[in-house]
This record gives sequence, structure tokens and C-alpha cells, in this order.
Amino acid sequence: MDPWGLTTAALLACVLFLIFFSLRRQEFKRWKLPPGPTPLPFIGNILQLDFKNLPASFSQLAEKYGPIYTLYFGTQRVVVLHGYNIMKEALIDQGDAFKDRGIIPMVEDVFKGQGVVFSHGERWKQLRRFSLMTLRNFGMGKRSIEERVQEEAQCLVEEFRKTKGQATDPTFILGCAPCNVICSILFRDRFNYNDEKFLYLMKLLKENFELFNSPWVQIYSLLPAFRVYLPGKHKRFFRNVEDIKHFILEKVKEHQKILDAINPQDYIDCYLSKMQQEKDNPQSEFDLENLLATGANLFVAGTETTSSTLRYGLLLILKHPEVQAKIHEEIDRVIGRNRVPSIKDRQDMPYTDAVVHEVQRFIDLLPLNLPHAVNQDIQFQQYFLPKGTTIFPLLSPVLNDSKEFPNPDQFDPQHFLDMNGKFKKSDYFMPFSTGKRSCLGEGLAMMELFLFFTTILQNFTLKSVGDPKEISIRTNRIRFSLPPYYQLCFLPH
Ligand code: HEM
Ligand SMILES: *[C@@H]1O[C@H](CO)[C@@H](O)[C@H](O)[C@H]1NC(C)=O
Repeated sequence: MDPWGLTTAALLACVLFLIFFSLRRQEFKRWKLPPGPTPLPFIGNILQLDFKNLPASFSQLAEKYGPIYTLYFGTQRVVVLHGYNIMKEALIDQGDAFKDRGIIPMVEDVFKGQGVVFSHGERWKQLRRFSLMTLRNFGMGKRSIEERVQEEAQCLVEEFRKTKGQATDPTFILGCAPCNVICSILFRDRFNYNDEKFLYLMKLLKENFELFNSPWVQIYSLLPAFRVYLPGKHKRFFRNVEDIKHFILEKVKEHQKILDAINPQDYIDCYLSKMQQEKDNPQSEFDLENLLATGANLFVAGTETTSSTLRYGLLLILKHPEVQAKIHEEIDRVIGRNRVPSIKDRQDMPYTDAVVHEVQRFIDLLPLNLPHAVNQDIQFQQYFLPKGTTIFPLLSPVLNDSKEFPNPDQFDPQHFLDMNGKFKKSDYFMPFSTGKRSCLGEGLAMMELFLFFTTILQNFTLKSVGDPKEISIRTNRIRFSLPPYYQLCFLPH
């Protein structure tokens, strides 16, 4: 390039930057947005973030800017909430304004606002209320949710018994059980773990989970302009979601043939009879597309979350033999060997209850939560947040709060026990988030975690392959905090 061209280009760049910064200053003045680091044109603040450990980057920014600050992911404006007080003020005290789902571009492209996780407004309200009612313990006919989980827990234990005490990677089996609980709730019946259709469903879920959790896809999903550069992965993700919906559609067709609307046996029955009831109501959101999308949502939201928590929990119990001994003592005393654990045992088992809570607190499964958005222009503290602003209500800082949980980075069930060994509740326990948009499967997940852990430990003593002290428990934290791979032996208890 000749010198004149170079000068012109440099001048042009200067002018563009000046325009960009003055626009930004105006934006801050007009809207009184929370403070934050200066973004660059097009890419925003992404160079200031470590995508292999976003929670750490967010904590550093909170030290500098305080508990609420503004960031730009590319051109998308995000307001980060860091710490218990600000979370409570937003998601609970002003919960109505903060209950919209923030946009995750990749997911938006596939679901187009359908299904309970990614919908808004009236559609979300109807789907959420219906799903909560149906997922209550006796919401679906004669067989309670608890019975379905107990049945699965027995199958899980039989599967581990087949390993005959040999060193085993528990990932696959612990993945099957929560997936099968969702099958049992949606479709009435569970599958055998070697059923071909079931394995196909598991494969789709696993692939999409891995895509969703990879750092490249994180960057892509934050910078939609880059989507053209990731065509393969993007298409794969799309196709898998379509395949999951198709899988559910086949089941829906079977259900339609034999529907007895008076005696619904599962979620699909309940939904189909709701569709019939509301067929003359033009405001009804209960159509086939929302059923397929919500069904796919329940599989995605309910499978890897629960199974990763189980897998991480067993690893922590392996690492702390004294914890395992106390759980065994409590199971032997309260339940014994001759009956299966039930959820009402939990009130008599404060130690085990505390371990389950501490596992969820310590592993910090979804450090960044799912994104929210404000559904109106609002005044919040001394700031003004325009409608549509994406909100990151972080869970990590709340679960790792050092005033509420002394030594927060130690795994210690005492965090949830008082001086008399009774269970101690904490408002800071928010692995399921809080407020109107919090996890819809919280009750189900807590039931699964308690029943699966106690049923496993009622039947087995867990033994590590090497010295428990050598077990490493931390890995990268991208969107999910996952445990490292490991093996263990299931010995008869
Ligand atoms: C240990 C297990 C689980 C954890 C840690 C977990 C955590 C979460 C979190 C943090 C959110 C986002 C909440 C928010 O946006 O404020 C969420 C949403 C959701 N979860 Fe869970 N979850 C778990 C299990 C389940 C299960 C078993 C189901 C199945 C029924 C489920 C269904 C959902 C749904 C449908 C949403 C979206 C709710 C909405 O947008 O209204 N989750 N979960
Ligand atoms: C949790 O808090 C402790 C002490 O306040 C800090 O040292 C640690 O880095 C935090 N851990 C995470 C994962 O944020």
C-alpha cells in the first residue's frame, strides 16, 4: 500500500474509534448503565476474559467494579450480578422484571422461542405452570414420581453389581439413570440400559452436551457473527435437537392412539388431555410444537445435570472415607438392609442430607447460571437497565461465599449441619438458581440425588483404585463444572 493509502486507512480507523467511543459514552450517560471495562469495537470485552475459566475472570472484574457491572460479548450487552445480596434484590425482590430468559444465539436458532426453557411471556407462564403441576409427586396418575425414581435406583444398583467389584468408570451407568427417569415421566415406562433406542437417545444428548460445553461453541454462541465459521458443529447441534424431537414425536403418536384422558399415566398423556381441554381457547399455548420442544428441554436439562452431580458426588465420597463411614452408619441405623430408601427418610438422615447439599454447593455445577433478561426498562439501584438487557446472575459467588460457608473451597458437610448435628438450611444454597425462573426440576433432582446416593451406599462400599488422598477433583470450568474421569470399585456393603 502507498504511504497515502496507509495514512488514509489510519485516519479512517481513528475516526471510527472516536465515533465508537463517543457513542458508547452517550449510551452510558443516557442509560446510567452499571460500570465496567471499556469494550473494543465488534469484539467487546472478550479479550479480557479467560474462556477456560470464566468464573475466575468474573470474580476479578467484581473486585474492580463491584457486585454489578456491564460487559460486552461482541456487541451483546450483559449485566453481571455477583454475590448474594444483588442476586436477591434482582431475582426475588424485583423478580417480575428479571424473569425473562436471556438469548443464547445457538439455542435460539434451534428452538425459536418454543418450549419452557427458552420461551417468554404468556407461553412460558402456561408451560411452566403446567409442567410444575405435572411434575409434583402425584401429578400423573397412579404411579408417583418417587416410585419411578425408586425403580430406577434398584436397576442402577443391579447394573453396578454386575461389575463384580472390578475397577469401573461409572460415567455411562450414572448417565443412564437420570435419563431413564425422564423417560419414565414422559413416556410412562423406562428402558433397559441396552435398549437400542435408549442408547441412541443417550448418544444425541451426550453429543449436544459436549458441543454446548466446548469453549469454541461458547465463543460462537457469544459472537453470533462467527456462526459461519463453525458450520459443521452448528449443523450437528441442530440435527441432534431435531432428532430428539422426532424421537419424542414417535412416542406422542403412540400415546395419541390409546389416550385415556381421564386416567393420564405420564407427562405426554397429561399434555394431550390439556390440548383437548383447551382446543377452543385461542390463547392456548398447548400445541404439538411446544410439547416436543418442552420434552427435549426436560431431557437436556434433567440428564447431564443430575448425572454429573452423581458422578462428582461419588468422587468426593471416595476422596473422603470418613464421610462415607458416617453415611453408612446413618443408613444402617435409619433404613437398614431390608427395605428400599424413600424420600421421607431424609428428615431422619441429616448427615446424608448435608452431604448431598454440600456436593451441590462444592461442585458449583453451573457457575454462570443460565442467562436471564429484563423484560422492561427498569430502575435498579442507582442504575437504569433498558428492556432486553442480558443478565448473568452468577451462582458461583453465592455458593462460594466465605461469610456464609467458612473455608468455602473445602468439601465439608458441616457447612449444612448445626452444633447438634441437625440439618442447617442456608439461603445461599442456590445451585438451582432462585426466583421465578429457577430450575423447574429442583424437586425431582433433589429426590433423585437423595435416593440414588442412599440406594448406592445401602448396597455398596466404594473403594478407590489408588490412595484416596491422591484423587484430584478439579478440572476446567467452562459452562459446566465437570469432574475428571476416574474409576472405582463397588464392593458389597
Ligand atoms: C442437579 C441437577 C440440576 C441442577 C443443578 C439444575 C440447575 C438449573 C439451573 C441453574 C437452571 C437455570 C435457572 C435460572 O435460569 O435461573 C435450571 C433451569 C431448568 N431446569 Fe434444572 N437443574 C437440575 C436438574 C433438572 C431436572 C432433573 C430437570 C427436569 C425436570 C430440570 C429442568 C429444568 C428446566 C425445565 C429449567 C428451565 C426453567 C425455566 O426456564 O423456567 N432441571 N436448572
Ligand atoms: C472461593 O472463595 C475462596 C475464599 O474466599 C477463594 O480463595 C477461591 O478462589 C474461591 N473459589 C472459586 C472457585 O471462586
